[in-house]
Amino acid sequence: MKELILDIGTTTTSVYGNYIKAFLKIPTVAAVDIRKDEVVAIGNDAWSILGRTQGYFRCVYPLRRGMIDDCEVATGFLRLLLKKVGTPKIGSVRVSMCLPAVANKTTYDMVRKVLSKGGVKKVRFVKRPVAMALGVGISRTEIGGRMVMEIGGGLSEAAVVCLGEVASASSVEVGGQDIDMAICNYLRDRYELVIPVKTAEQLKIALGTDFSVQQSSFRQGDNRSNIRISARDSVWGRPRVIDIPAKELLEICQDKLSQTLQTAHKCLLETSEELLEDISLTGIWIGGGTALLKGFPELLAESTSLPVHMPVVSSEYVLAGIMRYWRMKGARKLYAHA
Ligand SMILES: Nc1ncnc2c1ncn2[C@@H]1O[C@H](COP(=O)(O)OP(=O)(O)OP(=O)(O)O)[C@@H](O)[C@H]1O
Ligand SMILES: [Mg+2]
Repeated sequence: MKELILDIGTTTTSVYGNYIKAFLKIPTVAAVDIRKDEVVAIGNDAWSILGRTQGYFRCVYPLRRGMIDDCEVATGFLRLLLKKVGTPKIGSVRVSMCLPAVANKTTYDMVRKVLSKGGVKKVRFVKRPVAMALGVGISRTEIGGRMVMEIGGGLSEAAVVCLGEVASASSVEVGGQDIDMAICNYLRDRYELVIPVKTAEQLKIALGTDFSVQQSSFRQGDNRSNIRISARDSVWGRPRVIDIPAKELLEICQDKLSQTLQTAHKCLLETSEELLEDISLTGIWIGGGTALLKGFPELLAESTSLPVHMPVVSSEYVLAGIMRYWRMKGARKLYAHA
């Protein structure tokens, strides 16, 4: 049977299948032809189209905060995705995918509807924290509680998993995208500068919440304490280059991440004493793109007083976890890749 494993996130979609050559990771974005109201390209291809032919096309993120936001575009996105990975006969493929632990019945129904409209008849789900736990090597028969946390583009979710089930979970609608937007807004309000969101993302990745940067670089006169930004002046419209203190941008990152840390605390508060005892020994496994932010593991470890572990490539681990959940072939291959 043809199997497709899917993790569709707010910003990134990861796919693997027993009939496709390689694991695929693309941005969850679609280029929609506004004349026909049709999705014409997805992922990086969508970016290329939008960059070259503005006017007739608009860029749509079909997901918001980890949930489907635009059913039509999500269906078009799925159709092109299936085509992209060379799905021979869509009706014969079985899709296994994960959804956030906080997803409710409406979300599940909506995803089913989109898949069905996209031609997929067979689908099975697993909660994302369970997939992540299995993906990082925690056994489904493990009696002790294990805590996992995913910090993605639009959602942060912490959960305690025990015996392959979610024992407690908490989430907050904050992710990397919010940090990018906060950087854009800050530069516009404080310095009258306009930068593309992509540039804000690059600044964020370069900067992170790195403690060592904070401690060593913010001394007066230290060159590293400033970040050079070239952008457009929002008043005059002309290009401008300025140096701004890195500390200001770090504070923006930390402000958003504090909400993520609170989610971890909330999850711990909702966890039983017995499971908490296990977690105090084993710590937290983190994943998702925003978990790669420099200094974030240290920030979480300091805030929760728990050891923090991070798989090398988190999106592959989620896919491997879905496979393990359904005991499919290929999980080992994905582990090797990760
Ligand atoms: N090295 C890095 N440092 C900091 N942030 C990063 C790094 N790499 C990716 N990111 C950020 O991770 C985010 C995407 O993460 P991920 O792919 O896990 O999200 P997603 O699964 O699409 O979203 P969600 O799970 O919230 O629906 C983006 O905001 C991106 O800027
Ligand atoms: Mg995700």
